[in-house]
Amino acid sequence: MMNLKFAFAGSLVAFSGWVTTAQADKLTLYCSPDPEWCELVVQTFEAETGIDVDMTRKSSGETFAQIKAESSNPKGDVWFGGTGDPHLQAAAEGLTEPYESPMRDQLHPWAISQAESADNKTIGIYSGALGYGYNTELLAANGLPEPSCWKDLLKPEYKGHIQMANPNSSGTAYTTLATIVQLFGEEEGFEFMKGLHANINQYTKSGSAPIKAAARGETTIGIVFMHDAVAQAVSGFPVKVVAPCEGTGYEIGSMSIIAGARNMDEAKKFYDWALTAEAQALALQASSYQVPSNVGAPTSDKSPDLSSIKLIDYDFVKYGSSDERKRLLQKWDEEVSTLPQ
Ligand code: G6P
Repeated sequence: MMNLKFAFAGSLVAFSGWVTTAQADKLTLYCSPDPEWCELVVQTFEAETGIDVDMTRKSSGETFAQIKAESSNPKGDVWFGGTGDPHLQAAAEGLTEPYESPMRDQLHPWAISQAESADNKTIGIYSGALGYGYNTELLAANGLPEPSCWKDLLKPEYKGHIQMANPNSSGTAYTTLATIVQLFGEEEGFEFMKGLHANINQYTKSGSAPIKAAARGETTIGIVFMHDAVAQAVSGFPVKVVAPCEGTGYEIGSMSIIAGARNMDEAKKFYDWALTAEAQALALQASSYQVPSNVGAPTSDKSPDLSSIKLIDYDFVKYGSSDERKRLLQKWDEEVSTLPQ
C-alpha cells in the first residue's frame, strides 16, 4: 500500500514536471528586418504572452540557406520578415508550413496574394520600394553630379563610390538584381550589373548596410530599399533618397512558419500576433518605414509613397521560384562578381 502511494505520488511529481516544461513556452525566431525592429518585436511579444523568444537576426538569403540546411532537423519556428522571394522559394521547396491565420481579413490584398501564390506557406507583412540614397555632403565634396536614374550609376566618375549588398546573402540585393533584369531584359540587365560592379567599393552581407555606411560618410551612394535611406535621413544624416527615373522593383516582406517547427502552437500565436495592427505599429517605433500589411496599422508621412513611385510589375512567382533564383545568383557569381574592379 505504502509503495503504491509512493508510486502515485512519484508519478504526480513526474506529471507536474512535464506540465511545467510544456508551460515554459518558447519560440525560436529567425528575423530578417533591421535588428532594432527585431529586438522590439521580441521584447513586446515576450511581455504580452510570457513566451520566451530565442531570436537570431540574419539576412534573407542567409536565413533561407540556414532553414534549408536544418531541414532534416528544424531548429527555427518562425521566419519573420525579409524580402518575399526567398520565402516563396522556401515554400516551393517544402521548407515552410501552410497556415491560414484568422487575421487575414485585416490585410491588404498584396499581402494575401503573396500567401495565395505559395499555398498559404507565407504571407506579406510589409512592402517597400527599391532605390538608392546618397550622402549629399560627400557627393558635393567629390564634385559628383546628382544621380537620379539607375543608368546614372554606371558613369565612370562614380567608380569606388557605390556600395550594395551581395545578392546571395541579401534579399535587398537579390531584389536589385531581379529588378534590373525585369527593367532592362536579361542580357542588357547583366551588362548593367557588370558596369555597376566596376563602380562598387564593397558588397556587404546585409541589405541596409550600404546606406548606413553612406550616412557615416564611408561610401557616397548605397543601393537599398528607399525606406532604409529614409530612416537615415530621419535620423539626421545628410542622405537624399532616390526613386530611379526608369522605374523600380519592390518587396513584399514576408513571414513563414518553418515546416516541422518544434513549437508549433507558439509559432501560430506569434504569426497571428505579428499580423495585428498593434504589433505592426512597432516598425515605426524602431524607425522602420515600410508600408505595413495590416490596413489598420499606422503609416508615416515620411515613408516613401508607393503610389507616386514608378513601380514595375514585379513578377514574384517567377523571381521567387527556386530555379530562377538559383539560376540568376549563379550567373551573377560567375559572370559579374569574378570580374576585376
Ligand atoms: C532591410 C529592410 C527590409 C528588408 C531587409 C532585407 O532590413 O528594411 O525591408 O526586407 O532589409 O534584408 P537583407 O539583409 O536580406 O537585404
